[in-house]
Amino acid sequence: MIQKFEKINSLKGELYLAGDKSISHRAVMFASMAEGKSIIRNCSESEDVISTMNCFAKLGCKYKRDGNTIEVIGKGIGKLTPPQTQLDAGNSGTTTRLISGILAAQNFESEIIGDASLSKRPMKRIVEPLKLMGANLEANKYGTLPLKIFPSKDIQSISYTFQVASAQVKSAMILLAIHLDEVSEFIETVPTRNHTELMLGLKREKANSGTKIFASKKNYPKPFDITVPADISSAAFFIVAALLSYDSEIILSNVSLNPTRTGLISVLKEMGGQIEILNRRDEAGEEAGDIRIVSSQLKNVSIPKEIIPNVIDEIPILSAAGLFAEGNFRIENAKELRVKESDRIKSLCENYKKVGVNVIELEDGFELRGTPSNIQAVFESYDDHRIAMTFGVLSSLLDSGGYVSGFECVGISNPKFYEQLTTLVYNSKI
Ligand code: S3P
Repeated sequence: MIQKFEKINSLKGELYLAGDKSISHRAVMFASMAEGKSIIRNCSESEDVISTMNCFAKLGCKYKRDGNTIEVIGKGIGKLTPPQTQLDAGNSGTTTRLISGILAAQNFESEIIGDASLSKRPMKRIVEPLKLMGANLEANKYGTLPLKIFPSKDIQSISYTFQVASAQVKSAMILLAIHLDEVSEFIETVPTRNHTELMLGLKREKANSGTKIFASKKNYPKPFDITVPADISSAAFFIVAALLSYDSEIILSNVSLNPTRTGLISVLKEMGGQIEILNRRDEAGEEAGDIRIVSSQLKNVSIPKEIIPNVIDEIPILSAAGLFAEGNFRIENAKELRVKESDRIKSLCENYKKVGVNVIELEDGFELRGTPSNIQAVFESYDDHRIAMTFGVLSSLLDSGGYVSGFECVGISNPKFYEQLTTLVYNSKI
């Protein structure tokens, strides 16, 4: 489907976005693992989280939905049931990698498959470390899906320093570790999102080289009732659209402000963005608050290496902000972008070239020079939700407007993106 975007002059009003996708994935998984009934309020409406539910439904868990509230009947440790068919993780890397750690602890065989994009993404990064804990699993010869997971009698606790800065790899190992009596110790040298640790109540301490994380059966989830704060990664698109459009002022309510996720806000503030956090609170053990954003003139700043894992999902929309800011936008140390839902370095560079931007593609990033021309381009989503929304916002900032083809993929994280943008535009006219 090709979506047309008209030039936006102003955005006004307040948005209540659906729950954070990373937290919702974990909430669904942990509720499914816990024995009995859990409630997840303001659960993400994303297709990715539905993929997680579909996988656990095949493992015997039950879900009842009432709007954005999900009632989950989970199975308890050792009680998930053998799936009758392959587990389809759809487009979701988080589903695949996290569930692998759980499946490695079960006494039955399972196989995970996914869509064309997920089937290209690297799985060795979880296969190898899970094997070090005695897991019995194998990817195909290219190190990708399908992933076959067999029962193992040799699962053992581990003392391990993560080799890849990835919350998905970290979580896969933790999720296997919480099936064991003995305590496993993990050292994380580069911080990545810590929702798994917070939601499972894992003990953490500062180590010389980073953070030490402890996990054992004591941390196996019990039933819970939580409200998921809104998704900062979905909020990112509206933050940038409001900053860059003329005469805008919006509020995004009750957004997750976990410090491992707020790198985008720090960078945009440093760029001169007027972003204010109101009503800070605690929501589901996570920091949350309302974000007020006012139109601003931005200038590019350098983006340090250490912050990359914190902003990794927001780099597409951050680059659009950088394109309209004073100076050139440049990002380096972000090779991970090449193995996301699309090769995001390539997807971004090819799309920027369509509006005459001078693009320098690097192995681990890119640089943008010049200003985009108003030529009603048809941008390509590359079936990647964050690319589709980035170029939706970019189109809305051009006098000519623009189009995004394959736009339906936004459902992977936020099916209501277009409707929400339209609401903010409508509010500005009344
Ligand atoms: C996620 C971790 C990140 C992120 C992804 C969600 C998670 O991936 O890009 O969108 O929920 O754990 P990596 O762990 O591969 O960096």
